[in-house]
Amino acid sequence: MRQMRSSTPFLLIALSTLAFIGVFAISAAMPDNKKKPPSFPQSLFAEAKPSDYLNDSDCADCHKSAHASAGNSPHNLYMQNPKNPIDKRGCQGCHGPGDIHVNHLLAADQPFRHVIS
Ligand code: HEC
Ligand code: HEC
Repeated sequence: MRQMRSSTPFLLIALSTLAFIGVFAISAAMPDNKKKPPSFPQSLFAEAKPSDYLNDSDCADCHKSAHASAGNSPHNLYMQNPKNPIDKRGCQGCHGPGDIHVNHLLAADQPFRHVIS
């Protein structure tokens, strides 16, 4: 009896140390979802800088009819709110950063690929 009582604190410390190491090992082995990069086309939004966004009127230079018809979309009402952050406003809130789109179109060394869809 005497012996058991004196070994109890040691056992408790040993057990809690093991539990601590166990929790640490499990959390270290878990895949870190936060670090997974978003896939295309969300990656466009994630990588874009504020300077990668154009004015909606710039889109109209090349997409006249789409620019005109976007106004008929009920979704467009929400997208027109000037308080929306730049990546959730106007044409580019749905289609992504326009400067990346235009630069991609102009890059002669790349095969054509829609960067906005
Ligand atoms: C310099 C001209 C130019 C500008 C400026 C431009 N685009 Fe484009 N865009 C194109 C061309 C060329 C294509 C590829 C041909 C096509 O599919 O119409 C294209 C393709 C697209 C497509 C895919 C169309 C499809 O049929 O799949 C979308 C969506 C689009 N552009 C949206 C935009 C938006 C939004 C803006 C403004 C931020 C913009 N574009 C600015 C020239 C331009
Ligand atoms: C609320 C989201 C949203 C907004 C805002 C929006 N679009 Fe679109 N756009 C779409 C969707 C969805 C399609 C595909 C529709 C289809 O295929 O019929 C599309 C299709 C297009 C296309 C290809 C088809 C076509 O009509 O030529 C172009 C170009 C385009 N949009 C340009 C623009 C421009 C320019 C603006 C801003 C004036 C704009 N869009 C605003 C969602 C949006």
